[in-house]
Amino acid sequence: MAKRLKQHAIWGRGSFILAATGSAVGLGNIWKFPYITGENGGAAFVLLYLVCVALVGIPIMMAEIMIGRKGRANPVTAMSNISSDIGSTRLWSIIGWMGVLAGFFILSYYSVIAGWTLDYLVAAIEGKFGGLNGESSNELFNTLLADQSRLVQWHTAFISMTALVLMFGVTKGLENAIRFMMPTLFILLLILLGYAFTTGEIMTSARFMFSFNIEDLSWNSALLALGHAFFTLSIGMGAIMAYGAYMPSTASIGKTVITVAVLDVLVGLLTGVAIFAFVFATPGIEPSSGPGLMFVTLPVAFGSMPMGTFLGIAFFGMVVLAAWSSTMSLLEPGVAYLHERFGFHRISASLLVAGAAWLLGLGSVLSFNQWSEQELLWGMNFYSCLDFFTTNLLLPSGGLLTAIFVGWIMKRELSAHEMQQDHPRLLAVWRWVLRYVSPIAVLAIIINLFFPIATRLVAD
Ligand code: TRP
Repeated sequence: MAKRLKQHAIWGRGSFILAATGSAVGLGNIWKFPYITGENGGAAFVLLYLVCVALVGIPIMMAEIMIGRKGRANPVTAMSNISSDIGSTRLWSIIGWMGVLAGFFILSYYSVIAGWTLDYLVAAIEGKFGGLNGESSNELFNTLLADQSRLVQWHTAFISMTALVLMFGVTKGLENAIRFMMPTLFILLLILLGYAFTTGEIMTSARFMFSFNIEDLSWNSALLALGHAFFTLSIGMGAIMAYGAYMPSTASIGKTVITVAVLDVLVGLLTGVAIFAFVFATPGIEPSSGPGLMFVTLPVAFGSMPMGTFLGIAFFGMVVLAAWSSTMSLLEPGVAYLHERFGFHRISASLLVAGAAWLLGLGSVLSFNQWSEQELLWGMNFYSCLDFFTTNLLLPSGGLLTAIFVGWIMKRELSAHEMQQDHPRLLAVWRWVLRYVSPIAVLAIIINLFFPIATRLVAD
């Protein structure tokens, strides 16, 4: 008989939506999305990404929440209990394991980059953006990247902030934090958007983001769109599964997931539009594509705009909140696992997992200076490797296994029972997509990615 845990905390109805949205909205939306859209054909890429969200992201997210809520435990225990309850092999708990591991890997580098946003928030408060031009802004960013001790300091600060919230537990820590952070984040976004309107460049910006350049699309863009759909929705690694364990039984999973996905996509699109509006309103700078957009181009815009200091603080404050609510969900599966499975106190569990991720993160810190040219695999350094394998391999395969487990191994009645608040027709569509469409799409894309790499290796 599977080991049962004592029932743990359940959140209020709105808290789950806020927490899942907090997990979803992060650096992925604000930092990555605008520049990969720019590089991969604008609207053509957005369309591809929306298809991935609808056909793969939403169904898998529903499956994850269903498992978490049914299991009422951390991803490893939930998967192990459910699989043994339905008479299947407990090996399925590998889904939970991969999740805990992927979360840990992602947290290690995510916290380093989130650390830069803290540094920029402080710079904004100190008024350091005033009078920046392209060159001096570039220099500001490169000085930060070259300064190992400053990078370590911010990485330490960020991971500590994350661990601190989790130490207080599921209700006092996570739920309370999220109820304050998310409304603040939305208010900041509204302020920024409102201001972006007054620059008069909203239309130029929208045209730039949504111009349809089909010729820039490639197989690689399809992989990017899928990987990004997983990354931005926080699925494929049990983060949402872990949160699902705290979702009230009376809430509808389908409606919740659609709300979260819509909010997540909207935040990505709206921040993109606001960012490019600021950039277009600043004479003399180009909408640089690439990772420098947020840390190099945008500060120049803030530095030359009326109320720029205030806007810079609002913007980087928003990014810090978005990243923080995301790292919380990356840490939670590991912490819940140690707490529930081995009886660790949440304080020691948080310190242990965060400490280990901190250590691994030092490799990413070095990847931006000393090791930046150090090729680990296929031309990628330590950080790029971690990012590439977690986003493009671990998350999609975690999602694929989840889709197979829920679509093919679990009986329909069982999942239908957990989802009785949802309309039967919606459930039928969901199950069909989860059985046939999501796994095939994920497989096709993974094979297309790794097949060329494999042939290249053979050719070498
Ligand atoms: N979704 C977050 C972002 O867009 C990152 C994130 C948080 C994440 N938790 C996750 C990604 C779990 C994958 C899996 O920035």
